[in-house]
Amino acid sequence: MSHPGPGDPDLSKLPSHIAIIMDGNGRWAKQRLMNRINGHEKGADAVRMIVRTCREIGIEYLTLYAFSTENWQRPKAEVTALMDLLKRFLKSESKEMQDNNVRLDTIGQTHRMPKGVRDLLYQNMEMTASNTGLTLNLALSYGGRAEIVDMVKQIANHVKNGQLEPSAITPEIVADNLYTRGMCDPDLLIRTGGDMRVSNFLLWQIAYTEIFVTDTLWPEFSREEFIAILADFQKRERRFGRVLHT
Ligand code: IPE
Ligand code: IPE
Ligand code: MG
Repeated sequence: MSHPGPGDPDLSKLPSHIAIIMDGNGRWAKQRLMNRINGHEKGADAVRMIVRTCREIGIEYLTLYAFSTENWQRPKAEVTALMDLLKRFLKSESKEMQDNNVRLDTIGQTHRMPKGVRDLLYQNMEMTASNTGLTLNLALSYGGRAEIVDMVKQIANHVKNGQLEPSAITPEIVADNLYTRGMCDPDLLIRTGGDMRVSNFLLWQIAYTEIFVTDTLWPEFSREEFIAILADFQKRERRFGRVLHT
C-alpha cells in the first residue's frame, strides 16, 4: 500500500463490522444495453475487490447482501443465473479464502438455496471454520423480517419447553437467537445504487449503524471510493443516544 495521505482513514480505528447492500447491477447493465445478468457478472468483480480490501486492512466482519428473500420473485432466468454465479464464485474464491485466513459464514434461509450452492457453501464454511482473519458473511435468501420471525419462534419454543421465563427475555437473548448470533452489530452500512432504503436488511442489527448511500452502481464501486467512505466514517460522531460534549 502507498503512504497514507490527508484523506486516508486511520487504520487504527476501523469499523469492526461492515455491511453492504450491493445494489445497481441491473441498472449498470441497462445503461450499456446489456442483460441484467451481465451486470451481476460484473458485480462479482467488485465483490472480489471489496473482500480483498477488507482483509488487507484488517476488518473483522464483512456482511454482503447477495440475495434477499424477496429476490426469489425475480424472473426465473435471473434467479438461475444468480445461483450459477454464486456457485462459480464459491469455487473460484475457495483457494484465495483459505490462503488468506478468511472464514466464510452465511446468514439467511440458506435451506432454500439450490443444493449445488448449499453444498459448496457448507464445504467452504467447513474448510475455513478455524481461520482467524476476515469473516466473509454472505446474506443469502436473507430477509430481516424472516429472521425476526425465526427468532420469535425459537424463543417461543424455549419458553414452551420451560427453559426460559418470558420476564427473562433481554436484548442479548434476542440477539442470540438471530442468524447473526455471535457477531457484533455493523458499525457501517454502505448502500450503492443511490436508493435511500434498507430493503429488509439487518433490521435489528442496524439500530446504531452509520449509514452511507452512494449513487455509484455496484459494478463500478471502487477501492478508492470505499477508502474514502472509511475516512468519512471516522469523522462521524457516534453518540448512541447520549450527550458526549457538554
Ligand atoms: C443488486 O442489483 C443485486 C441483487 C439484488 C442480487 P440489482 O439487480 O437489484 O440491480 P438494480 O437495482 O436493478 O439496478
Ligand atoms: C437489495 O436490493 C437486495 C440485494 C442487494 C441483494 P434490491 O434491488 O432487491 O432492493 P429494492 O428492490 O431496491 O428494495
Ligand atoms: Mg436493486
